[in-house]
Amino acid sequence: MGDRRILLLLVLVLFSGLVSFVGAYEEEKSEQTTQGEKWFLLRQLHNVVKTDAGSMRIVKGGYRAGSFLHSPMHIGFISMEPNSLFIPQYLDSDLLLFVHQGEATTGNIYRDELAERSLKEGDVYTIPAGSAFYLENGNENQRLRIICSIGISSESMGWNAFQSFFIGGGVHTSILAGFDHTTLSTALNVSTAELKTFLIRQTSGPIVHLSNSHQLNIWSKFLAQEPHQKLAHLKRIVNFGEESNPKEEVSTWSLRKFLFNLLNREDVVKRVNRKAPSTYNLYNRNPDFENNYGWSKALDESDYSPLEQSGNGVYLVNLTSGSMMAPHVNPRAIEYGIVLKGTGRIQIVYPNGTLAMNARVREGDVFWVPRYFPFCQIASSNGPFEFFGFSTSARRNHPHFLVGRNSLMQSLSGPEFAASFGIDEERLKRIANAQSEQVILPSSSPDSPMEMNLDFY
Ligand SMILES: *[C@@H]1O[C@H](CO)[C@@H](O)[C@H](O)[C@H]1NC(C)=O
Ligand SMILES: *[C@@H]1O[C@H](CO)[C@@H](O)[C@H](O)[C@H]1NC(C)=O
Ligand SMILES: *[C@@H]1O[C@H](CO)[C@@H](O)[C@H](O)[C@H]1NC(C)=O
Repeated sequence: MGDRRILLLLVLVLFSGLVSFVGAYEEEKSEQTTQGEKWFLLRQLHNVVKTDAGSMRIVKGGYRAGSFLHSPMHIGFISMEPNSLFIPQYLDSDLLLFVHQGEATTGNIYRDELAERSLKEGDVYTIPAGSAFYLENGNENQRLRIICSIGISSESMGWNAFQSFFIGGGVHTSILAGFDHTTLSTALNVSTAELKTFLIRQTSGPIVHLSNSHQLNIWSKFLAQEPHQKLAHLKRIVNFGEESNPKEEVSTWSLRKFLFNLLNREDVVKRVNRKAPSTYNLYNRNPDFENNYGWSKALDESDYSPLEQSGNGVYLVNLTSGSMMAPHVNPRAIEYGIVLKGTGRIQIVYPNGTLAMNARVREGDVFWVPRYFPFCQIASSNGPFEFFGFSTSARRNHPHFLVGRNSLMQSLSGPEFAASFGIDEERLKRIANAQSEQVILPSSSPDSPMEMNLDFY
């Protein structure tokens, strides 16, 4: 019964939503920025890391200014020049990577092993919270571009945007650098000479060139090591905090406790499977839905089990020019979208049926849609519209399509629903059956071409 009530609500929303969509088309020429645009279109990029070998930029999650809406994820764009390394670090949040361009090698500590993986275009890979990892672009000619989601869990500390702890190298960024070397060597129980082997002073920041022209080649050496040596290197820092000594200084103790909690958190350990995960290529996957107007792919934990841990889904959609993803709602998940190619329009409606946003989007734009907010994506008429994204549920997402064949509108076109709209059943049926396609629909109202190319990396 509860379900039926939700469905009825959705249908009511659908109608007011449709009215809003139509209204939006009519108002298109005036093209005002709605408040929703500020909330659902995330165009403000923050530099987290910037060096001459690469950058990492994010759009922040959290509460949207002036709104009760909470976005639980940061979306990050990592760009690395050929032959470069994102030095070892760890995050206090799960990291979900998607390789948009180029190829990479990543290494992370998984249980007690070094898990090294080669990543290629279209690959999805997860790195659990608190796992030390590095990223290498070993290609001599191609830039590496990665899109990632960084979950803001209740446990993450959320300093600044998110806290990235650089554990080796870069005295300027290492979390350990705040302590003097005597304190550290006591805390770690290693000599100060040994300490220097992983607190290596280098000033080029967290993303470094690996080319020979740079005399600072410690990281090339690090990468050239055998896996067990690399692991030892990473673990030296990770595993020092087994127990605290009450006689130690408070600061040292806190540091240990802090790292210990972070790295050996029960829940993290428990959730980790025995075997380090492999990668999953989204480009090689067959579409989950396909017709003449485009296709969509959705990846959940039943296809790729590491998603269970991060609690995220991943999807990819390709619409032919002018087509649209039928208006739908996600009853289970918040959805994020990143435009990979082409231009289009995103329309989002509040659950009360008022238009929230009708925005033109272009390559690099990030949008997000809260649960229960009806929305649709429309390709402009000048070419295909590709977007990739994350959702906050690893379970199979069952979007409710509001329009089209097999949509809610059709399954609910009984007399009681007709009555609730104040029209007769015949009329409702006629409206509901007018669209013979489903999920991805041809569009009759051509969109105008728009400006392109926002440099989002
Ligand atoms: C410190 O290291 C030495 C040997 O390297 C070892 O004998 C000693 O037990 C260690 N102390 C602690 C508190 O781990
Ligand atoms: C999307 O579709 C267009 C043709 O409509 C095609 O050229 C393009 O390669 C597709 N994108 C992907 C990622 O498959
Ligand atoms: C619907 O909700 C939005 C956001 O809370 C609000 O701005 C808008 O005024 C509401 N519309 C109506 C008709 O209540």
